[in-house]
Amino acid sequence: MTTYPDFLSQHINWYGSRLLVRPVCPDDAPRFVAASFLCSAEDLRFRFLNSIRRLSERLAAQLTQIDYEQHMAFVAENLKGEVVAVARFARDTLKKSAECAVIVRTDLQRHGLGSMMHKLLEDYAVTRGITEFWGVVDQDNARALSFFHQLNFSASFRIDLPFVHIAKSLV
Ligand SMILES: CC(C)(COP(=O)(O)OP(=O)(O)OC[C@H]1O[C@@H](n2cnc3c(N)ncnc32)[C@H](O)[C@@H]1OP(=O)(O)O)[C@@H](O)C(=O)NCCC(=O)NCCS
Repeated sequence: MTTYPDFLSQHINWYGSRLLVRPVCPDDAPRFVAASFLCSAEDLRFRFLNSIRRLSERLAAQLTQIDYEQHMAFVAENLKGEVVAVARFARDTLKKSAECAVIVRTDLQRHGLGSMMHKLLEDYAVTRGITEFWGVVDQDNARALSFFHQLNFSASFRIDLPFVHIAKSLV
């Protein structure tokens, strides 16, 4: 059985409010579905690289039932108990690299929350021996390309593909 790493939870002051940043847990599934209603269709598409109107219960269950080792996700929860941001990685099988992804609720973007969540994720990944983060970004997703550039990721464009491969060494 997986033990919940509660010691990774912390309260932070962010943009005039207080957030609880903690590892995701299975009870978060309904909060994920609710949060998806507060994200724009474009943001959901950019995050999941697929046109979805909202998160299904099934996907929410997959995203919240993780082992905290191969697969890790931090959530930021506001005082109302709403999930306002998620940053996650999934380690590549038998490798030291991991795919990463992040989403911030649409109305709360551009106030440093994405960067803060990503930094926490990176720090945790390093403690788990992960040496490289990579990701896939829609080529129309200028916000994310700028976001990852600011976090020192490199970007490889392929003229024949609508996605940009981003990568960063963590060592
Ligand atoms: C990408 C995303 C996570 C950024 O989150 P955020 O909390 O808004 O990001 P931050 O406020 O920490 O911004 C950090 C930097 O990213 C860049 N950035 C973020 N939003 C930007 C925008 N709208 N336009 C241009 N640059 C932007 C800037 O360089 C910014 O630094 P600055 O504010 O000092 O200029 C957010 O836009 C999001 O959730 N998008 C939808 C999901 C997605 O595309 N995820 C990425 C693929 S997995």
